[in-house]
Amino acid sequence: MNRNDISEELLKWTFHISTLNHHHRNRGKPKPMAQNRDHYQLFKDEETRIRAQLRERFVGKSIDDADLVRTPALIIDRGVFEANCAGMMKKAREWGAEFRAHLKTHKTTEGTRHQLQTSEGSTGAVVVSTVKEAWEVWNAGLVEDGVILYGLPVGVNKVSDLAGLWDKMQPYGGIVRLLVDHLDQVKLLENFENKRETKRRWSVFVKINGGQNRAGVPPSSEELRVLLEAILRSPATSLHGFYAHAGNSYASTSKSEATSYLSSEVQIVNEAAAFALSNFGELLKSAHRTEPFVLSVGSTPTAHASGAEAKEMLDRALHGKLELHAGNYPMLDLQQQHTTLIDYPRIAQRVRTTVISYYPGRGKGGEDEALIDAGAIAFSKDTGPSGSFGEVVGKPWKLARISQEHGVLSATTRGERLEVGSTVDIVGQHACLIAAVGAFNYIASRINLGTQAHPWFYVVDSTSSDSSKIVDIWVPWKGW
Ligand SMILES: Cc1ncc(COP(=O)(O)O)c(C=O)c1O
Repeated sequence: MNRNDISEELLKWTFHISTLNHHHRNRGKPKPMAQNRDHYQLFKDEETRIRAQLRERFVGKSIDDADLVRTPALIIDRGVFEANCAGMMKKAREWGAEFRAHLKTHKTTEGTRHQLQTSEGSTGAVVVSTVKEAWEVWNAGLVEDGVILYGLPVGVNKVSDLAGLWDKMQPYGGIVRLLVDHLDQVKLLENFENKRETKRRWSVFVKINGGQNRAGVPPSSEELRVLLEAILRSPATSLHGFYAHAGNSYASTSKSEATSYLSSEVQIVNEAAAFALSNFGELLKSAHRTEPFVLSVGSTPTAHASGAEAKEMLDRALHGKLELHAGNYPMLDLQQQHTTLIDYPRIAQRVRTTVISYYPGRGKGGEDEALIDAGAIAFSKDTGPSGSFGEVVGKPWKLARISQEHGVLSATTRGERLEVGSTVDIVGQHACLIAAVGAFNYIASRINLGTQAHPWFYVVDSTSSDSSKIVDIWVPWKGW
């Protein structure tokens, strides 16, 4: 295989899955059968085989077996992960909102299943940050009659893939929903549908910019007016509601601050809905819109602030139904701990590393330093308001500096040495980046296109009788 062939294979593997025979939940609906085994299926078969091999090798063994578990190793505590998922579902319910789970933090089938099916209820609504996540969550049979929201304003190069996915979901009643924040995206959907024999209307959320200036249009703005008019007049779109994501809520350091971010998220989507109703009442009627708008808000800090106490916010007139979305909450990290909305024991992930060298008194203040076998590829370079790139679990040490493949620990108090050859677990700043930077795909690596780093996640369960036993191996999805 030359490199071009390989790229083509990879592209097929990532995107061209029209003949995939995926696992269905039995809903009594007719099931389209796989047609023939294409390359994607071959990759899938290989991946399934490797997953089985990994499980055979690790499950039931001890995570503390240093000969078996090569560091750096990303460890997920499934009991804590599950409890976080149930807790979030409960919050959404208490708040009177539907819940939409973002999958980008772990990008795994198993993690998604915990997010969607919890002891506190279930949901079939997801939001994804990549087309790859969208296809994989569908392949896993978790959302075939649900709704996959593609969580970036839709790009010209993504429409045809997302349309292919919608085709697959349609027989089961599932749909792909889009975010839009620019007139050209509506035109793009129109042009795309014009070329199709059977034309469809894409269900869209308008993304509202709450001042973070990441994506979206301001509520009550001329941009919103022009965009709404285009959506309502277009034969290719149908307005589902308004979506806000308070990325800036990560700066919260108290529940009241996070609640005020939540309140401003609700305010802006509500303002946008009121704006639509007052400017386009007639057009909305002629577009046969009978359902209320969906007002989708969230981020892990604001979602943590939702729940029973934040309910009074709903007493204000809402021009739609609330939906809560969040993604980081199953794993959590130091950034989330800094918001004060979670306790340390709720952090479900940590990276195990090995101390490979030691430097007594080398630090600026004379403190000891140690070298570990994990750097930016294992932790990302994200920092947080608490400082450092990570904190050692149960020991007064922090991850002070990082290079690509190694990091420098610095003692935060005198007197507790680390032994060369010992392992330490570190909680990093941002779980989404830690898992994603490390995520690689085994198949891609076999043809030298993958990265190294966390090829799989070791899963333990602190709620079981043996918290050091590896209970599962999760292999993350990689690619866009
Ligand atoms: C569009 C969108 N929705 C939801 C989320 C989930 O936010 P969080 O990870 O804070 O829960 C993100 C995160 O980046 C996002 O970009």
